[in-house]
Amino acid sequence: MRILVVGTGGREHALALKLARDGHEVHAAPGNPGIAAIGAVHEVAIADQPSVADLAVAIGADLVVVGPEAPLVAGLADAVRDAGIPVFGPSGEAARLEGSKAFSKAVMEAAGVPTARAIVAGSPAEAAAALEELGAPYVVKDDALAAGKGVVVTNDRAEALAHATACGRVVVEEFLDGPECSLFVVCDGTTGRALQPAQDFKRVFDGGRGPNTGGMGSYSPLPWAPAALRETVLRDVVQPTLEEMARRGAPFVGCLYVGLALTRSGPRVIEFNVRFGDPDIQPVLALLESDLGELLLAAATGRLRELPEPVFADGASVTVVLASRGYPESSSSGDVIAGVEAAAAHPRVDVIHAGTATDASGRLVTAGGRVLAVRAAGDSIADARARAYEAAAEIAFDGLQRRTDIAAEPLGVVEGAAVLDS
Ligand code: AMP
Ligand code: GLY
Repeated sequence: MRILVVGTGGREHALALKLARDGHEVHAAPGNPGIAAIGAVHEVAIADQPSVADLAVAIGADLVVVGPEAPLVAGLADAVRDAGIPVFGPSGEAARLEGSKAFSKAVMEAAGVPTARAIVAGSPAEAAAALEELGAPYVVKDDALAAGKGVVVTNDRAEALAHATACGRVVVEEFLDGPECSLFVVCDGTTGRALQPAQDFKRVFDGGRGPNTGGMGSYSPLPWAPAALRETVLRDVVQPTLEEMARRGAPFVGCLYVGLALTRSGPRVIEFNVRFGDPDIQPVLALLESDLGELLLAAATGRLRELPEPVFADGASVTVVLASRGYPESSSSGDVIAGVEAAAAHPRVDVIHAGTATDASGRLVTAGGRVLAVRAAGDSIADARARAYEAAAEIAFDGLQRRTDIAAEPLGVVEGAAVLDS
């Protein structure tokens, strides 16, 4: 198949890599230097919907995969679908599951999905009342898209209130106590197929300290998670959500990313996203043996029920993110990156580009907060972790930051939904 991947980040490179390995012809708009090494990149701005649709038609794409949330929320999938090409990615209406936390909560409530109690607050006074009612630890979420950085979890009431005031409209939530995991569910509007769960390390520093980021590393599978997790979440979360979305006239086609806290009373949804998570999807794709293109096309064309359950390799995979100076508050661009080829030469390792660029003299440089991800597969989590860190040690650039404790023991405990820094 000829597949156009829309996006510029590590998720898109990881998807492109898997699609290329499955034998598909990969195109990207606009892609990044990592994708350029395995497919054709096209200089088309993601926000330019007519141009993306025209490109898909011009290259004769069999399938378009939209990676990031912003273009989905803006309706890019609708524009490409209107041009007659199958799209893996929800309509603008269905993407509100991620685009608005308040909408997402309303759908969960209507569908009876287990999640945290929540109160939407439109003013500081309403926020103060909600904090009072739900109590500490306080969880305050910006209602709008915030690239994973719009959430404050704290015991400090003043900090919680300050965040609410700065955001304007927020969702104040009950604190969910338990380790977190990401479950990616490929959906065709009525049927969902869950991939193997992963865990994402969200805080910037070791030990789960510092501010939340888009994710500093990840691993899969999760030996500590209940064996029936996928079945439970499909039954209690995904199926009722798909039915509720269809009832609202906005059937969900694409990846429903279920962010879960595994609490004492069972899995509870922390959030829905409408795309694959990055870097959490990376180790999952490293282990996926089924043809990804077939799976995504079946979802895009309402035929998921015809496919067998996705199959995963034994063993494990670990991804370590290399970020630039200042991340997540800011980022540094133009720092020359050394050692990528040496790292990629390690056995069972892939170097995934997230925020890189090629400068005027052809050198690979930083171009964003999360710059690269080093992903390794191994016979066990410990083996994959050792391989990932050995390869990551080859890479250097000015200001490089990375955590040293991704997928370290004790698994499933460190990255609980935790109140830290307070
Ligand atoms: P979100 O953007 O909704 O995924 O939130 C970012 C992070 O904040 C999550 O990964 C959790 O670590 C934490 N968080 C969000 N909601 C809750 C909650 N209700 N209880 C505890 N922690 C939460
Ligand atoms: N890694 C978390 C996310 O993609 O939202």
